[in-house]
Amino acid sequence: MIGIIGAMPVEVDGLTAILNEKQGEAVSGIVFYQGKISGVSCVVACCGPGKVNAAVCTQAMLMRYPVSLVINTGVAGGIGPGVRIGDLVVAEGVVQHDFDTSPLDGVKGLLPVLNEVVVPTDQAASDTLLQCARRVYDGNVTRGIVATGDQFISGGEQAAKIRGDFGADACEMEGGSIGQVCALNKIPFAVIRAISDHGDDEASVDFPAFASQAAQKSIELLKTALPLL
Ligand code: ADE
Repeated sequence: MIGIIGAMPVEVDGLTAILNEKQGEAVSGIVFYQGKISGVSCVVACCGPGKVNAAVCTQAMLMRYPVSLVINTGVAGGIGPGVRIGDLVVAEGVVQHDFDTSPLDGVKGLLPVLNEVVVPTDQAASDTLLQCARRVYDGNVTRGIVATGDQFISGGEQAAKIRGDFGADACEMEGGSIGQVCALNKIPFAVIRAISDHGDDEASVDFPAFASQAAQKSIELLKTALPLL
């Protein structure tokens, strides 16, 4: 079974709507919908924005369902060179840009227990998503680092700092946390994000204007890729 997590209704509604033989169950305040998409057994959840919501959702999903791969789908701010609104980013790894114990250990974003900054995504699943995206999608598709934090990034300097610190191509609020929980549970994960803004001074205007159509791009990619994963 494949677990699919999005933060906002617009990021998952297009998937829950097409689940065949759908069954819903609430755990920890999150509704998990189980069924088939494109013939593949899936459980789909809308976790709510931010790292804590995403972590609770991922852990509950992994404890409740026999999930062999978790995919985080949704939108992100594009902060890499050449990453534009409407583009897709498939994560090669995730970081948490707001996790900082560097005054103690000298390394920004170093996650305890895992002892790594970049949590790598599953290479086979990410390769499949990337190939599929390049085949079905006419826009730009990048493989890169997705940076997660409990902040909506809406300033050029802030975005440039995240880019500079972590070499990130996209910023969002859940992927790093989902990746951390999956890594702790030794479950493969992947992240696909469509770009809704640039995390810059225009982000609070661009996000509401483009989030819905961007989210739909990730959903369309997933529908095509699921049988290949
Ligand atoms: N998701 C989409 N755009 C974002 C941004 N600018 N910051 C954080 N999360 C986002």
